[in-house]
Amino acid sequence: MARRQTTPAERSRALNPFRYRGPLKASQDIIDRAAEREQILDLAQGGHSLRMIGPRRYGKTTLLTQLLRDAEKADMATALVDLEDVLSIGDLVVRIERAYANSLKGRMRSAVEALLNTWNVGLSLGGGGFTVRLSSNPPATNDAVLLRLLELPRELHQRTGRQTLVVFDEVQDILAVPGADGKIRSVIQHHEDIASYAFAGSAPGMMDQLFSDPRRPLLEQAVGLELAPLPLDQAAAYIDRRFRATKRRAGPALQPLVEFTRGHPQRTMLLAHFLWKLTPEASTADERTFLAAQNQALGEARGHLRAIFKALKPNEKRVMLALANLPGSPREAANAAAVGLKAGSVAATLEGLRAGADLIDAPTGGRAVITDPLFELWLRRRGLTGLTGATELED
Ligand SMILES: Nc1ncnc2c1ncn2[C@@H]1O[C@H](COP(=O)(O)OP(=O)(O)O)[C@@H](O)[C@H]1O
Ligand SMILES: [Mg+2]
Repeated sequence: MARRQTTPAERSRALNPFRYRGPLKASQDIIDRAAEREQILDLAQGGHSLRMIGPRRYGKTTLLTQLLRDAEKADMATALVDLEDVLSIGDLVVRIERAYANSLKGRMRSAVEALLNTWNVGLSLGGGGFTVRLSSNPPATNDAVLLRLLELPRELHQRTGRQTLVVFDEVQDILAVPGADGKIRSVIQHHEDIASYAFAGSAPGMMDQLFSDPRRPLLEQAVGLELAPLPLDQAAAYIDRRFRATKRRAGPALQPLVEFTRGHPQRTMLLAHFLWKLTPEASTADERTFLAAQNQALGEARGHLRAIFKALKPNEKRVMLALANLPGSPREAANAAAVGLKAGSVAATLEGLRAGADLIDAPTGGRAVITDPLFELWLRRRGLTGLTGATELED
């Protein structure tokens, strides 16, 4: 049968070597993070627990996926529990069940499958699993099933001698389910020699609530790790290499690209993706190609950025606009006045924005910078219009 000819556009789409959605799986796709990867594997194997903080799309799940793979090679049972937008205790049960279903293999999988069968509470690694019980179970039953499922590492350890690594990703979302963090804590604090836990989250303020608040310390001894931006030299070398490998040159576009994205992992890949797309085979990108890629990236992200801006409180909008548009700090009286901020409310607003990871400390220390360089660009293009006195900001 004759094959349909692919058009050049289709071929270039298939070839684009820069992925900017979802966690990366292949280790050759991943820039750096080798030191972090080794450090967290050592902790997990040593039975220590870990809390990892990094803004959204900073590569947390990518790194955790690598950690799980390393732990599997070291003969641990693993589960990566995604807690993003978890709604209820029953939903939490489903998330944990799915995590084991996704990662357990071979003998360990059969052992767990057999165990869940004997419990006879509706848990299963295949088929619909616990979801089918959700609507009919009374809440007390779901609570009991959760406690039982959280004890799975103990049962596994008794039966197979293996330790388990359980990762809770986007763990701050557990705060939306009353009592859930307490239930998790009550079980896992007794798992010292049988399991390690890693907690990853994107909002430092909520992570502090979970871990440092004396009323709800999830794991007091969890070792903290803050995910840093990617090293710019490594990001540049990676982009350069991938352009060359596909018969292109990043050329004079490379420097402005890494300076603009300043190590933000997803933004680096997004910009590189569009730069590559705009660079025909056998040619070299330049500053103009970079600006065009920047515009395309902004176009792609615009809806999302607008929604993020809308969700900010009025004073947060003012501070973000000041940071993006005015030289110097919003703490300076003239800058505060220019965006209609009362001098007394600047410090608290900055703190709130840091707690939500909208701002991070500049790598050079001191001053806060906007975490997402594309959001900063969007805020700059938006400008300071519509900012008068204390009136509500409209987009
Ligand atoms: N170490 C890395 N090297 C290259 N790109 C990365 C790296 N980490 C993250 N990314 C980019 O960021 C995107 C989001 O990564 P992800 O792990 O899902 O972030 P998070 O879990 O923090 O939201 C990936 O699709 C990829 O484009
Ligand atoms: Mg993630």
